[in-house]
Amino acid sequence: MFAKLKISLPLLALPLLFGAALSLHADFFALDPGVRGDPAGAGGPIDGISANEMKFFEAGLAAFNEVQDVQGDDPGLGPRFNLDNCAGCHAQPAVGGSSPFTNPQVAVAAKANAKNVVPPFIKIDGPVREARFKFKANGTRDGGVHALFTITGRDDAPGCFLDQPDFATAAAQNNLIFRIPTPTFGAGLIQAIDEDTILANKRSRALRKQFFGIAGRENRNGNDGTITRFGWKAQNKSLLIFAGEAYNVEQGVTNELFPQERDETPGCLFNGTPEDQTRFDQTELTAVPSDTLKFAIFMRFLAPPIPTAETPSISNGRSLFDRIGCALCHTPSLTTGKSSSAAFDQKPVNLYSDLLLHNMGPGLADDILQGNARGDEFRTAPLWGLGQRKFFLHDGRTTELREAIIAHRSFGNLQFGPSEANLAIQIFDSLGGADTQDIFNFLRSL
Ligand code: HEC
Ligand code: HEC
Repeated sequence: MFAKLKISLPLLALPLLFGAALSLHADFFALDPGVRGDPAGAGGPIDGISANEMKFFEAGLAAFNEVQDVQGDDPGLGPRFNLDNCAGCHAQPAVGGSSPFTNPQVAVAAKANAKNVVPPFIKIDGPVREARFKFKANGTRDGGVHALFTITGRDDAPGCFLDQPDFATAAAQNNLIFRIPTPTFGAGLIQAIDEDTILANKRSRALRKQFFGIAGRENRNGNDGTITRFGWKAQNKSLLIFAGEAYNVEQGVTNELFPQERDETPGCLFNGTPEDQTRFDQTELTAVPSDTLKFAIFMRFLAPPIPTAETPSISNGRSLFDRIGCALCHTPSLTTGKSSSAAFDQKPVNLYSDLLLHNMGPGLADDILQGNARGDEFRTAPLWGLGQRKFFLHDGRTTELREAIIAHRSFGNLQFGPSEANLAIQIFDSLGGADTQDIFNFLRSL
């Protein structure tokens, strides 16, 4: 590998090899500095929004925090659900973010006298998780979310009897996979990136990408053919569609985008559908939109994470991140197009993602197909905000940066080819302790 590296890319390889050799001290082990303790730096509104936009941001935040019951003031929960509010899963380091340190799914299982068993993959100090099954009992593809809990036994759901999905059998048959929440800070900027920009970035640095074995392709919407970009497999088109789907899938609240209950068992349906809709009886401007629209507006206006100040170590980590190939997928910055809102008009988006799908090999593969995405393809995870994240990778399998990085390396098997990240990870693994430390410090500065 190194001989090839030298011949093909002498300017890249020589400083890299010397740097690695010189900084290799047996007594120096790089340490992940861990979750940054300083103030959130995210969770507020993006710069440049108008006073009226700010009012909708605040109304959206309130809706995002609202806890749903089956019946009552904020009705609609269930029949099946993963949690009863958006902010419980999107919590760290501020509302809108990713999985909190303490998993709220443990408490919700028995809330209001519900009779749910907490599945073994849900732990009080583990990540918030949703579960998908790869296949149905008849052997055909499934891929859908199977909500963890039901409203059976709850005080506000008399007469409803439902069983939880059979997670034990699914686990025994290797048919069960997990997803953790992706953060939504800066999501409005990601939404405002033109397709041309994504495609031009895909074509850029072609020789380097070819040398590293990195390709990448966009996921597309089956109906209109445009690029989709949200979710672990870039399977979703917009914040509004994601909001409608999440309201129904995570909480069981039917809405104008997803009007039917996912489980229509008689005895478990307590409200007319859609449970959330435009409030035609309201007169105050910010009270009229549905919760779903309010969620989308809130996430669109959420400010991007703010990185810490540059130090020599962070700066070296940043340049190594580029030199060893990480930045070929984790594109440091893209620019938004022309926008109808000033806050999004031709702005830099320092997301550290190309928003493309990459083959990551059998080690990360979850064997779930979404849109064009195949079983081992994932969207390059945006790394902004990483410094304040607790759990990493689509299933939250680790809290350690080194493990998250090494997990990118995976050789092919009969079902999946090798990971596109293999060469980059091999070089990462050969770095000396000081350089690895600088990469960790850089990642935790984001
Ligand atoms: C039970 C936990 C849970 C709840 C409750 C929840 N989410 Fe999520 N959210 C997730 C998970 C898991 C993902 C990743 C899904 C995937 O890609 O498979 C996600 C992803 C998202 C994304 C995609 C962000 C991106 O850039 O990829 C958006 C937007 C979102 N959720 C909005 C919402 C909204 C709005 C609500 C409330 C209606 C909500 N979520 C409630 C778990 C949750
Ligand atoms: C071939 C493209 C590619 C390359 C090269 C690559 N990554 Fe990634 N990275 C991804 C994808 C895709 C994911 C999401 C994988 C998953 O969750 O299964 C990811 C996830 C991550 C995560 C976890 C983020 C999260 O949200 O949990 C970290 C940290 C990370 N990468 C760092 C790096 C570093 C450091 C390098 C270079 C040594 C690197 N990556 C090289 C594609 C790449």
